[in-house]
Amino acid sequence: MTSTLTSNAHDNTEPNSPNTTTETVGSVSDFAVGQMKMAKVGERRIAVIRTQSGIHALDNACPHQGYGLVTGGLAGETVVCQWHNWKFDVRTGECTQGEENVACHQVTIDGDDINVSVTEQTAAQVREATWPSLTRGIEANYIGQISRDTARLLNSGAAPQDIMWAAVRHGAARAEWGPDHEMAMAADCLTVAMERTDDSRALALVQGISGIAERTRDRPKHELPQPDSSPDFQQSVEDEEIAALRAKTLAWLEDGADPAMVRHEFIDAASRHHLGYGHGIIYTQKAFELLDHVGWENAGDLLPYLAAGTAWQTREDLLPYMRPTMTKINAADLDAMASAQRDHQWADPTLVDRLLKLDEAPIEAAVEAVLGGAGITGLLDALSIGASRRMLRHSHDVEFMIDDDFSWLDITHVLTMVNAVRWAWSVDPGPHVARLALFATWLLFDSARAEQRHGIAEEAIAYPRFSDDASPADIARAVRFKDTQAALDAVASVDPDTAGDALMDAALSDQSGGFIVVAHQIKLSLAAKIESIETGSPLPLLAAARYLASPRGERFVARNVAASLDFVSTGKPPQR
Ligand code: FES
Repeated sequence: MTSTLTSNAHDNTEPNSPNTTTETVGSVSDFAVGQMKMAKVGERRIAVIRTQSGIHALDNACPHQGYGLVTGGLAGETVVCQWHNWKFDVRTGECTQGEENVACHQVTIDGDDINVSVTEQTAAQVREATWPSLTRGIEANYIGQISRDTARLLNSGAAPQDIMWAAVRHGAARAEWGPDHEMAMAADCLTVAMERTDDSRALALVQGISGIAERTRDRPKHELPQPDSSPDFQQSVEDEEIAALRAKTLAWLEDGADPAMVRHEFIDAASRHHLGYGHGIIYTQKAFELLDHVGWENAGDLLPYLAAGTAWQTREDLLPYMRPTMTKINAADLDAMASAQRDHQWADPTLVDRLLKLDEAPIEAAVEAVLGGAGITGLLDALSIGASRRMLRHSHDVEFMIDDDFSWLDITHVLTMVNAVRWAWSVDPGPHVARLALFATWLLFDSARAEQRHGIAEEAIAYPRFSDDASPADIARAVRFKDTQAALDAVASVDPDTAGDALMDAALSDQSGGFIVVAHQIKLSLAAKIESIETGSPLPLLAAARYLASPRGERFVARNVAASLDFVSTGKPPQR
Protein backbone atom coordinates (compact mmCIF):
# COMPACT_ATOMS: atom_id res chain seq x y z
CA MET A 1 0.00 0.00 0.00
CA THR A 2 1.30 3.44 -0.83
CA SER A 3 0.26 6.28 1.44
CA THR A 4 -0.03 10.02 0.77
CA LEU A 5 3.29 10.45 2.56
CA THR A 6 5.09 9.27 -0.58
CA SER A 7 7.47 11.90 -1.89
CA ASN A 8 8.26 12.66 -5.48
CA ALA A 9 11.03 10.71 -7.12
CA HIS A 10 13.45 12.52 -9.39
CA ASP A 11 15.43 9.72 -10.90
CA ASN A 12 15.01 9.52 -14.61
CA THR A 13 14.81 5.73 -14.75
CA GLU A 14 11.99 3.52 -13.62
CA PRO A 15 12.23 2.34 -9.99
CA ASN A 16 12.04 -1.30 -11.04
CA SER A 17 14.86 -1.13 -13.51
CA PRO A 18 17.75 -3.56 -12.82
CA ASN A 19 19.92 -0.86 -11.28
CA THR A 20 17.31 0.13 -8.71
CA THR A 21 17.72 -0.95 -5.08
CA THR A 22 14.80 -0.67 -2.66
CA GLU A 23 15.24 -1.07 1.07
CA THR A 24 13.19 -0.47 4.18
CA VAL A 25 14.90 2.29 6.12
CA GLY A 26 12.61 2.67 9.17
CA SER A 27 9.07 2.92 10.51
CA VAL A 28 6.70 5.80 10.12
CA SER A 29 5.58 5.44 13.72
CA ASP A 30 9.17 5.95 14.95
CA PHE A 31 9.78 9.01 12.84
CA ALA A 32 8.63 12.40 14.04
CA VAL A 33 8.12 15.47 11.89
CA GLY A 34 11.37 17.45 11.96
CA GLN A 35 13.56 14.36 12.29
CA MET A 36 16.45 13.36 9.98
CA LYS A 37 18.11 9.95 9.92
CA MET A 38 20.91 8.46 7.89
CA ALA A 39 20.20 5.08 6.27
CA LYS A 40 22.02 2.87 3.79
CA VAL A 41 20.35 1.72 0.58
CA GLY A 42 22.73 -0.57 -1.22
CA GLU A 43 26.03 1.29 -1.01
CA ARG A 44 24.45 4.75 -0.88
CA ARG A 45 24.07 6.76 2.32
CA ILE A 46 20.66 8.36 2.32
CA ALA A 47 19.28 11.20 4.41
CA VAL A 48 15.70 10.30 5.32
CA ILE A 49 13.85 13.41 6.41
CA ARG A 50 10.34 13.90 7.70
CA THR A 51 8.70 17.31 7.36
CA GLN A 52 5.13 18.57 7.33
CA SER A 53 4.89 17.61 3.66
CA GLY A 54 5.92 13.97 4.10
CA ILE A 55 8.95 11.71 4.22
CA HIS A 56 11.74 12.46 1.80
CA ALA A 57 15.02 10.85 0.84
CA LEU A 58 18.07 12.69 -0.41
CA ASP A 59 21.66 11.65 -0.88
CA ASN A 60 23.24 12.19 2.50
CA ALA A 61 26.45 13.45 0.94
CA CYS A 62 26.21 17.18 0.38
CA PRO A 63 27.07 17.79 -3.29
CA HIS A 64 29.50 20.50 -2.25
CA GLN A 65 32.14 18.50 -0.40
CA GLY A 66 30.33 15.41 0.75
CA TYR A 67 29.62 16.18 4.41
CA GLY A 68 26.50 14.49 5.76
CA LEU A 69 23.23 16.41 5.42
CA VAL A 70 21.76 14.70 8.49
CA THR A 71 24.39 16.47 10.60
CA GLY A 72 22.95 19.75 9.34
CA GLY A 73 19.80 21.62 10.24
CA LEU A 74 16.18 21.42 9.11
CA ALA A 75 14.03 24.52 8.72
CA GLY A 76 10.56 23.73 7.38
CA GLU A 77 11.10 22.09 4.00
CA THR A 78 14.75 23.13 3.80
CA VAL A 79 17.72 21.10 4.90
CA VAL A 80 20.81 23.16 5.65
CA CYS A 81 24.31 21.75 5.30
CA GLN A 82 26.03 23.46 8.19
CA TRP A 83 29.51 23.15 6.75
CA HIS A 84 29.19 25.96 4.20
CA ASN A 85 25.49 26.82 4.47
CA TRP A 86 24.21 25.28 1.27
CA LYS A 87 20.45 24.74 1.42
CA PHE A 88 18.23 22.19 -0.30
CA ASP A 89 14.49 21.72 -0.68
CA VAL A 90 13.85 18.32 0.86
CA ARG A 91 10.93 17.66 -1.52
CA THR A 92 12.97 17.96 -4.71
CA GLY A 93 16.65 18.14 -3.79
CA GLU A 94 16.78 21.56 -5.43
CA CYS A 95 19.64 23.69 -4.17
CA THR A 96 18.23 27.00 -2.96
CA GLN A 97 21.57 28.38 -1.76
CA GLY A 98 24.79 27.01 -3.18
CA GLU A 99 25.71 25.58 -6.53
CA GLU A 100 24.21 22.21 -7.15
CA ASN A 101 21.12 20.08 -6.47
CA VAL A 102 21.32 16.95 -4.36
CA ALA A 103 19.95 13.65 -5.66
CA CYS A 104 16.40 12.97 -4.51
CA HIS A 105 15.09 9.39 -4.22
CA GLN A 106 11.68 7.78 -4.27
CA VAL A 107 10.02 7.04 -0.94
CA THR A 108 7.08 4.66 -0.63
CA ILE A 109 5.22 3.74 2.52
CA ASP A 110 4.07 0.17 2.96
CA GLY A 111 2.09 -0.15 6.16
CA ASP A 112 4.46 1.27 8.74
CA ASP A 113 7.56 0.66 6.61
CA ILE A 114 9.43 3.46 4.93
CA ASN A 115 10.94 2.16 1.70
CA VAL A 116 13.51 4.09 -0.27
CA SER A 117 14.40 3.22 -3.86
CA VAL A 118 17.75 4.29 -5.19
CA THR A 119 18.38 4.07 -8.89
CA GLU A 120 22.00 4.16 -9.95
CA GLN A 121 22.43 6.08 -13.16
CA THR A 122 24.17 4.53 -16.11
CA ALA A 123 27.31 6.24 -17.39
CA ALA A 124 25.31 7.69 -20.27
CA GLN A 125 22.73 9.11 -17.84
CA VAL A 126 25.46 10.62 -15.69
CA ARG A 127 26.94 12.32 -18.73
CA GLU A 128 23.57 13.54 -19.93
CA ALA A 129 22.79 15.05 -16.54
CA THR A 130 26.25 16.54 -16.10
CA TRP A 131 26.72 18.52 -19.34
CA PRO A 132 24.11 21.17 -18.44
CA SER A 133 25.44 21.26 -14.90
CA LEU A 134 28.96 21.89 -16.20
CA THR A 135 27.63 24.69 -18.37
CA ARG A 136 25.96 26.27 -15.35
CA GLY A 137 29.22 25.99 -13.44
CA ILE A 138 31.11 27.71 -16.26
CA GLU A 139 28.48 30.46 -16.54
CA ALA A 140 28.64 31.15 -12.82
CA ASN A 141 32.42 30.62 -12.51
CA TYR A 142 31.85 28.02 -9.79
CA ILE A 143 35.21 26.25 -9.71
CA GLY A 144 33.91 23.63 -7.27
CA GLN A 145 31.06 22.68 -9.55
CA ILE A 146 33.32 22.69 -12.61
CA SER A 147 35.70 20.37 -10.76
CA ARG A 148 33.00 17.97 -9.61
CA ASP A 149 31.36 17.85 -13.02
CA THR A 150 34.71 17.32 -14.74
CA ALA A 151 35.40 14.41 -12.38
CA ARG A 152 31.92 12.98 -13.03
CA LEU A 153 32.33 13.30 -16.79
CA LEU A 154 35.77 11.68 -16.81
CA ASN A 155 34.54 8.89 -14.53
CA SER A 156 31.59 8.26 -16.80
CA GLY A 157 33.76 8.00 -19.89
CA ALA A 158 33.48 11.45 -21.45
CA ALA A 159 36.43 12.43 -23.67
CA PRO A 160 38.70 15.24 -22.41
CA GLN A 161 38.32 17.11 -25.68
CA ASP A 162 34.52 17.14 -25.31
CA ILE A 163 34.79 18.48 -21.78
CA MET A 164 37.19 21.27 -22.75
CA TRP A 165 35.23 22.08 -25.86
CA ALA A 166 32.08 22.69 -23.80
CA ALA A 167 34.00 25.52 -22.16
CA VAL A 168 35.75 26.85 -25.25
CA ARG A 169 32.47 26.95 -27.18
CA HIS A 170 30.88 28.87 -24.34
CA GLY A 171 33.82 31.24 -23.85
CA ALA A 172 34.69 31.99 -27.48
CA ALA A 173 31.21 33.36 -28.10
CA ARG A 174 31.48 35.65 -25.08
CA ALA A 175 35.11 36.79 -24.97
CA GLU A 176 34.91 40.56 -25.03
CA TRP A 177 37.58 41.25 -27.68
CA GLY A 178 37.85 37.78 -29.12
CA PRO A 179 39.26 34.58 -27.61
CA ASP A 180 42.64 35.31 -26.04
CA HIS A 181 44.70 34.07 -23.10
CA GLU A 182 41.90 31.91 -21.72
CA MET A 183 41.48 30.13 -25.06
CA ALA A 184 45.24 29.72 -25.44
CA MET A 185 45.50 28.26 -21.95
CA ALA A 186 42.57 25.93 -22.63
CA ALA A 187 44.32 24.66 -25.77
CA ASP A 188 47.51 23.87 -23.87
CA CYS A 189 45.61 22.32 -20.98
CA LEU A 190 43.74 20.10 -23.41
CA THR A 191 47.01 19.04 -25.03
CA VAL A 192 48.24 18.02 -21.58
CA ALA A 193 44.96 16.30 -20.63
CA MET A 194 45.05 14.23 -23.80
CA GLU A 195 48.62 13.10 -23.11
CA ARG A 196 47.86 11.99 -19.57
CA THR A 197 45.95 8.99 -18.26
CA ASP A 198 46.08 9.72 -14.52
CA ASP A 199 44.28 12.21 -12.26
CA SER A 200 46.33 15.09 -13.65
CA ARG A 201 43.91 15.02 -16.60
CA ALA A 202 41.24 16.53 -14.40
CA LEU A 203 43.56 19.26 -13.10
CA ALA A 204 44.60 20.25 -16.60
CA LEU A 205 40.98 20.36 -17.76
CA VAL A 206 39.72 22.36 -14.80
CA GLN A 207 42.59 24.86 -15.06
CA GLY A 208 41.72 25.44 -18.68
CA ILE A 209 37.98 25.67 -18.03
CA SER A 210 38.40 27.92 -15.01
CA GLY A 211 40.27 30.52 -17.06
CA ILE A 212 37.37 30.68 -19.49
CA ALA A 213 34.80 30.83 -16.70
CA GLU A 214 36.64 33.66 -14.96
CA ARG A 215 37.11 35.74 -18.09
CA THR A 216 33.63 35.35 -19.53
CA ARG A 217 31.40 35.39 -16.48
CA ASP A 218 28.32 37.50 -17.11
CA ARG A 219 29.53 38.42 -20.58
CA PRO A 220 26.78 38.49 -23.24
CA LYS A 221 27.07 36.24 -26.24
CA HIS A 222 28.25 37.86 -29.49
CA GLU A 223 25.58 37.40 -32.14
CA LEU A 224 26.76 35.89 -35.41
CA PRO A 225 25.54 37.16 -38.80
CA GLN A 226 24.29 35.05 -41.69
CA PRO A 227 27.09 33.49 -43.78
CA ASP A 228 28.22 35.75 -46.60
CA SER A 229 31.00 34.84 -49.01
CA SER A 230 31.29 38.26 -50.64
CA PRO A 231 33.65 40.12 -48.22
CA ASP A 232 37.40 39.96 -48.78
CA PHE A 233 38.76 38.41 -45.59
CA GLN A 234 42.11 40.21 -45.44
CA GLN A 235 40.61 43.58 -46.31
CA SER A 236 37.93 43.09 -43.66
CA VAL A 237 40.63 42.40 -41.06
CA GLU A 238 42.41 45.55 -42.23
CA ASP A 239 39.21 47.60 -41.96
CA GLU A 240 38.10 45.96 -38.70
CA GLU A 241 34.81 44.97 -40.34
CA ILE A 242 33.79 42.53 -37.65
CA ALA A 243 30.41 41.46 -39.04
CA ALA A 244 31.90 40.92 -42.50
CA LEU A 245 34.72 38.80 -41.06
CA ARG A 246 32.36 36.62 -39.13
CA ALA A 247 30.02 36.25 -42.11
CA LYS A 248 32.91 35.34 -44.42
CA THR A 249 34.26 32.76 -41.98
CA LEU A 250 30.84 31.18 -41.60
CA ALA A 251 30.44 31.09 -45.39
CA TRP A 252 33.76 29.25 -45.76
CA LEU A 253 32.64 26.67 -43.24
CA GLU A 254 29.16 26.33 -44.69
CA ASP A 255 30.60 25.89 -48.19
CA GLY A 256 33.00 23.18 -47.01
CA ALA A 257 36.14 25.19 -47.71
CA ASP A 258 39.47 23.39 -47.46
CA PRO A 259 40.60 23.68 -43.80
CA ALA A 260 44.19 24.30 -44.96
CA MET A 261 43.01 27.28 -47.02
CA VAL A 262 41.09 28.71 -44.07
CA ARG A 263 44.09 28.18 -41.78
CA HIS A 264 46.32 29.94 -44.33
CA GLU A 265 44.01 32.96 -44.37
CA PHE A 266 44.12 33.22 -40.59
CA ILE A 267 47.92 32.84 -40.44
CA ASP A 268 48.27 35.37 -43.22
CA ALA A 269 46.03 37.81 -41.31
CA ALA A 270 48.17 37.34 -38.21
CA SER A 271 51.34 37.99 -40.22
CA ARG A 272 50.36 41.24 -41.93
CA HIS A 273 50.91 43.29 -38.79
CA HIS A 274 52.85 42.69 -35.62
CA LEU A 275 49.62 41.95 -33.80
CA GLY A 276 49.09 42.36 -30.09
CA TYR A 277 52.78 42.15 -29.17
CA GLY A 278 53.00 38.69 -30.69
CA HIS A 279 49.66 37.42 -29.45
CA GLY A 280 48.01 37.43 -32.89
CA ILE A 281 49.90 34.39 -34.11
CA ILE A 282 49.89 32.73 -30.66
CA TYR A 283 46.08 32.79 -30.52
CA THR A 284 45.86 31.59 -34.11
CA GLN A 285 48.14 28.65 -33.31
CA LYS A 286 46.17 27.72 -30.22
CA ALA A 287 42.78 27.96 -31.95
CA PHE A 288 43.87 25.63 -34.75
CA GLU A 289 45.50 23.22 -32.30
CA LEU A 290 42.19 23.08 -30.45
CA LEU A 291 40.40 22.27 -33.69
CA ASP A 292 42.95 19.52 -34.38
CA HIS A 293 41.87 17.99 -31.06
CA VAL A 294 38.10 18.43 -31.35
CA GLY A 295 37.52 18.15 -35.08
CA TRP A 296 37.07 20.63 -37.91
CA GLU A 297 33.28 20.25 -37.73
CA ASN A 298 33.42 22.46 -34.63
CA ALA A 299 35.25 25.32 -36.35
CA GLY A 300 32.08 27.43 -36.54
CA ASP A 301 32.07 27.73 -32.75
CA LEU A 302 35.52 29.30 -32.66
CA LEU A 303 36.82 30.78 -35.89
CA PRO A 304 34.24 33.57 -36.43
CA TYR A 305 35.19 34.91 -33.01
CA LEU A 306 38.92 34.43 -33.62
CA ALA A 307 38.57 36.42 -36.85
CA ALA A 308 37.07 39.31 -34.89
CA GLY A 309 39.79 39.04 -32.24
CA THR A 310 42.48 39.17 -34.93
CA ALA A 311 41.02 42.40 -36.31
CA TRP A 312 40.77 43.91 -32.84
CA GLN A 313 44.43 43.26 -31.95
CA THR A 314 46.83 46.18 -31.49
CA ARG A 315 48.91 46.69 -34.63
CA GLU A 316 52.20 47.26 -32.94
CA ASP A 317 54.04 47.75 -36.21
CA LEU A 318 52.11 51.01 -36.73
CA LEU A 319 53.50 52.48 -33.51
CA PRO A 320 56.26 55.08 -33.92
CA TYR A 321 58.90 53.09 -32.06
CA MET A 322 58.72 50.30 -34.64
CA ARG A 323 59.24 52.51 -37.69
CA PRO A 324 63.00 51.87 -38.14
CA THR A 325 62.39 48.13 -37.75
CA MET A 326 59.49 48.16 -40.20
CA THR A 327 61.66 49.88 -42.79
CA LYS A 328 64.09 46.95 -42.53
CA ILE A 329 61.35 44.29 -42.51
CA ASN A 330 59.67 45.86 -45.52
CA ALA A 331 62.99 45.82 -47.37
CA ALA A 332 63.61 42.12 -46.67
CA ASP A 333 63.15 39.65 -49.52
CA LEU A 334 60.54 37.46 -47.83
CA ASP A 335 60.18 35.18 -50.86
CA ALA A 336 63.90 34.47 -50.84
CA MET A 337 63.81 33.88 -47.10
CA ALA A 338 60.87 31.48 -47.42
CA SER A 339 62.60 29.46 -50.11
CA ALA A 340 66.01 29.38 -48.40
CA GLN A 341 66.85 25.80 -47.48
CA ARG A 342 68.32 24.97 -44.13
CA ASP A 343 71.88 23.73 -44.41
CA HIS A 344 72.41 21.53 -41.39
CA GLN A 345 76.18 21.97 -41.74
CA TRP A 346 75.65 25.73 -41.36
CA ALA A 347 76.65 27.19 -38.04
CA ASP A 348 77.26 30.71 -36.85
CA PRO A 349 78.33 30.82 -33.22
CA THR A 350 77.89 34.61 -33.17
CA LEU A 351 74.27 34.66 -34.34
CA VAL A 352 72.55 34.46 -30.97
CA ASP A 353 74.82 37.21 -29.60
CA ARG A 354 73.94 39.38 -32.57
CA LEU A 355 70.23 38.68 -32.09
CA LEU A 356 70.58 39.78 -28.47
CA LYS A 357 71.85 43.22 -29.49
CA LEU A 358 70.58 46.02 -27.30
CA ASP A 359 70.91 49.07 -29.56
CA GLU A 360 68.75 48.23 -32.57
CA ALA A 361 66.53 45.41 -33.83
CA PRO A 362 68.87 42.94 -35.56
CA ILE A 363 66.70 42.40 -38.63
CA GLU A 364 69.68 42.34 -41.02
CA ALA A 365 71.40 39.63 -38.95
CA ALA A 366 68.22 37.55 -39.05
CA VAL A 367 67.77 37.90 -42.81
CA GLU A 368 71.45 37.20 -43.45
CA ALA A 369 71.32 34.06 -41.31
CA VAL A 370 68.22 32.70 -43.05
CA LEU A 371 69.68 33.28 -46.51
CA GLY A 372 73.13 32.10 -45.44
CA GLY A 373 72.03 28.59 -44.48
CA ALA A 374 70.01 28.80 -41.27
CA GLY A 375 66.70 28.81 -43.12
CA ILE A 376 63.62 29.90 -41.20
CA THR A 377 63.88 27.08 -38.67
CA GLY A 378 67.54 27.87 -37.95
CA LEU A 379 66.57 31.47 -37.24
CA LEU A 380 63.75 30.30 -34.96
CA ASP A 381 66.20 28.06 -33.10
CA ALA A 382 68.53 31.01 -32.55
CA LEU A 383 65.64 33.23 -31.38
CA SER A 384 64.55 30.51 -28.98
CA ILE A 385 68.05 30.26 -27.52
CA GLY A 386 68.29 34.06 -27.37
CA ALA A 387 65.01 34.43 -25.49
CA SER A 388 66.09 31.68 -23.12
CA ARG A 389 69.41 33.34 -22.44
CA ARG A 390 67.64 36.60 -21.69
CA MET A 391 65.36 34.81 -19.23
CA LEU A 392 68.40 33.23 -17.62
CA ARG A 393 69.91 36.65 -16.96
CA HIS A 394 66.76 38.63 -16.11
CA SER A 395 67.36 40.49 -12.90
CA HIS A 396 64.92 39.74 -10.12
CA ASP A 397 65.33 43.34 -8.96
CA VAL A 398 63.51 44.61 -12.05
CA GLU A 399 60.52 42.52 -11.12
CA PHE A 400 59.96 44.60 -8.00
CA MET A 401 60.36 48.08 -9.49
CA ILE A 402 56.90 49.61 -9.26
CA ASP A 403 57.65 52.37 -11.74
CA ASP A 404 59.13 50.04 -14.37
CA ASP A 405 56.57 48.35 -16.61
CA PHE A 406 58.91 45.51 -17.56
CA SER A 407 58.23 42.02 -16.27
CA TRP A 408 59.04 38.40 -16.90
CA LEU A 409 56.11 38.17 -19.28
CA ASP A 410 57.84 40.57 -21.67
CA ILE A 411 60.46 37.86 -22.23
CA THR A 412 58.34 34.74 -21.90
CA HIS A 413 56.22 36.06 -24.79
CA VAL A 414 59.23 35.82 -27.08
CA LEU A 415 59.57 32.11 -26.49
CA THR A 416 55.85 31.44 -26.91
CA MET A 417 55.74 33.59 -30.04
CA VAL A 418 58.75 31.78 -31.53
CA ASN A 419 56.97 28.52 -30.83
CA ALA A 420 53.83 29.84 -32.57
CA VAL A 421 55.87 30.93 -35.61
CA ARG A 422 57.48 27.49 -35.68
CA TRP A 423 53.98 25.98 -35.75
CA ALA A 424 52.95 28.36 -38.57
CA TRP A 425 56.04 27.40 -40.55
CA SER A 426 55.33 23.69 -40.07
CA VAL A 427 51.72 23.90 -41.31
CA ASP A 428 51.77 26.78 -43.79
CA PRO A 429 55.30 27.79 -44.82
CA GLY A 430 55.72 30.85 -47.01
CA PRO A 431 56.84 34.47 -47.12
CA HIS A 432 54.10 35.50 -44.67
CA VAL A 433 55.70 33.24 -42.05
CA ALA A 434 59.14 34.66 -42.88
CA ARG A 435 57.66 38.05 -41.92
CA LEU A 436 56.41 36.55 -38.67
CA ALA A 437 59.95 35.30 -37.98
CA LEU A 438 61.21 38.88 -38.40
CA PHE A 439 58.48 40.14 -36.05
CA ALA A 440 59.72 37.57 -33.54
CA THR A 441 63.24 38.95 -34.07
CA TRP A 442 61.87 42.38 -33.19
CA LEU A 443 60.13 40.99 -30.13
CA LEU A 444 63.40 39.52 -28.86
CA PHE A 445 65.01 42.92 -29.31
CA ASP A 446 62.07 44.58 -27.52
CA SER A 447 62.58 42.23 -24.57
CA ALA A 448 65.93 43.98 -24.00
CA ARG A 449 64.18 47.04 -22.53
CA ALA A 450 65.06 46.20 -18.94
CA GLU A 451 68.65 45.42 -19.87
CA GLN A 452 68.86 48.72 -21.74
CA ARG A 453 67.63 50.62 -18.70
CA HIS A 454 69.32 48.75 -15.88
CA GLY A 455 72.11 46.67 -17.43
CA ILE A 456 72.67 42.97 -16.84
CA ALA A 457 73.40 42.24 -13.20
CA GLU A 458 76.20 39.70 -12.90
CA GLU A 459 74.45 38.03 -9.98
CA ALA A 460 71.32 37.55 -12.10
CA ILE A 461 73.01 35.20 -14.56
CA ALA A 462 71.97 31.65 -13.79
CA TYR A 463 74.00 28.51 -14.52
CA PRO A 464 72.78 24.98 -13.79
CA ARG A 465 74.74 22.28 -11.98
CA PHE A 466 74.18 18.65 -12.86
CA SER A 467 73.31 15.95 -10.42
CA ASP A 468 72.91 12.20 -10.91
CA ASP A 469 69.81 11.64 -8.83
CA ALA A 470 67.49 14.51 -9.76
CA SER A 471 63.80 13.72 -10.21
CA PRO A 472 60.53 15.46 -11.15
CA ALA A 473 59.82 15.78 -7.42
CA ASP A 474 62.92 17.98 -7.11
CA ILE A 475 61.58 20.27 -9.82
CA ALA A 476 58.19 20.50 -8.11
CA ARG A 477 59.82 21.25 -4.74
CA ALA A 478 62.15 23.87 -6.20
CA VAL A 479 59.29 25.68 -7.95
CA ARG A 480 57.10 25.50 -4.85
CA PHE A 481 59.77 26.96 -2.58
CA LYS A 482 61.09 29.40 -5.19
CA ASP A 483 64.54 27.82 -5.09
CA THR A 484 65.73 29.01 -8.47
CA GLN A 485 69.10 27.29 -8.40
CA ALA A 486 67.60 23.95 -7.37
CA ALA A 487 65.05 24.21 -10.20
CA LEU A 488 67.79 24.79 -12.75
CA ASP A 489 69.90 21.96 -11.37
CA ALA A 490 67.03 19.48 -11.46
CA VAL A 491 65.85 20.46 -14.95
CA ALA A 492 69.40 20.21 -16.30
CA SER A 493 69.72 16.72 -14.88
CA VAL A 494 66.66 14.99 -16.36
CA ASP A 495 65.57 14.44 -19.96
CA PRO A 496 63.52 17.15 -21.75
CA ASP A 497 60.22 15.23 -21.63
CA THR A 498 60.52 14.62 -17.91
CA ALA A 499 61.56 18.21 -17.24
CA GLY A 500 58.80 19.63 -19.44
CA ASP A 501 56.12 17.50 -17.80
CA ALA A 502 57.34 18.39 -14.30
CA LEU A 503 57.30 22.10 -15.13
CA MET A 504 53.81 21.74 -16.55
CA ASP A 505 52.66 19.99 -13.38
CA ALA A 506 54.12 22.85 -11.36
CA ALA A 507 52.38 25.40 -13.59
CA LEU A 508 49.06 23.57 -13.35
CA SER A 509 49.26 23.42 -9.59
CA ASP A 510 48.43 27.10 -9.53
CA GLN A 511 50.74 28.60 -6.94
CA SER A 512 50.51 32.14 -8.22
CA GLY A 513 46.79 32.65 -7.80
CA GLY A 514 46.16 35.04 -10.68
CA PHE A 515 44.69 33.75 -13.91
CA ILE A 516 47.05 35.68 -16.15
CA VAL A 517 50.13 34.33 -14.38
CA VAL A 518 48.92 30.74 -14.42
CA ALA A 519 48.05 31.13 -18.12
CA HIS A 520 51.59 32.27 -18.92
CA GLN A 521 53.18 29.57 -16.83
CA ILE A 522 51.21 26.91 -18.67
CA LYS A 523 51.85 28.39 -22.12
CA LEU A 524 55.54 28.79 -21.40
CA SER A 525 55.99 25.30 -19.97
CA LEU A 526 54.54 23.68 -23.07
CA ALA A 527 56.39 25.98 -25.48
CA ALA A 528 59.70 25.48 -23.64
CA LYS A 529 59.39 21.70 -23.83
CA ILE A 530 58.77 21.83 -27.58
CA GLU A 531 61.52 24.43 -28.10
CA SER A 532 64.07 22.38 -26.17
CA ILE A 533 63.23 19.31 -28.22
CA GLU A 534 63.31 21.24 -31.52
CA THR A 535 66.54 23.11 -30.80
CA GLY A 536 68.26 20.21 -29.05
CA SER A 537 69.19 22.67 -26.31
CA PRO A 538 68.21 22.54 -22.64
CA LEU A 539 68.10 26.36 -22.48
CA PRO A 540 64.35 26.87 -23.13
CA LEU A 541 63.46 24.44 -20.34
CA LEU A 542 66.04 25.98 -18.03
CA ALA A 543 64.63 29.42 -18.78
CA ALA A 544 61.10 28.24 -18.04
CA ALA A 545 62.33 26.64 -14.81
CA ARG A 546 63.97 29.87 -13.75
CA TYR A 547 60.80 31.82 -14.43
CA LEU A 548 58.57 29.40 -12.54
CA ALA A 549 60.92 29.24 -9.56
CA SER A 550 61.71 32.94 -9.34
CA PRO A 551 60.18 35.40 -6.90
CA ARG A 552 57.72 37.61 -8.74
CA GLY A 553 56.06 40.90 -8.02
CA GLU A 554 52.97 40.99 -10.19
CA ARG A 555 52.32 44.70 -9.53
CA PHE A 556 49.04 44.71 -11.47
CA VAL A 557 47.25 47.05 -9.12
CA ALA A 558 50.27 48.92 -7.75
CA ARG A 559 51.67 49.63 -11.18
CA ASN A 560 48.33 50.75 -12.55
CA VAL A 561 47.86 53.11 -9.63
CA ALA A 562 51.39 54.54 -10.02
CA ALA A 563 50.93 55.02 -13.76
CA SER A 564 47.45 56.52 -13.32
CA LEU A 565 48.62 59.00 -10.69
CA ASP A 566 51.42 60.04 -13.03
CA PHE A 567 49.17 60.32 -16.03
CA VAL A 568 46.34 62.15 -14.27
CA SER A 569 48.79 64.63 -12.71
CA THR A 570 51.09 65.23 -15.65
CA GLY A 571 49.35 63.87 -18.75
CA LYS A 572 52.48 61.82 -19.47
CA PRO A 573 52.06 58.25 -20.75
CA PRO A 574 53.99 55.51 -18.92
CA GLN A 575 57.62 54.88 -19.77
CA ARG A 576 58.02 52.06 -22.25
S1 FES B 1 29.88 20.36 2.39
FE1 FES B 1 27.86 21.02 2.44
S2 FES B 1 27.96 23.11 2.15
FE2 FES B 1 29.99 22.48 2.04
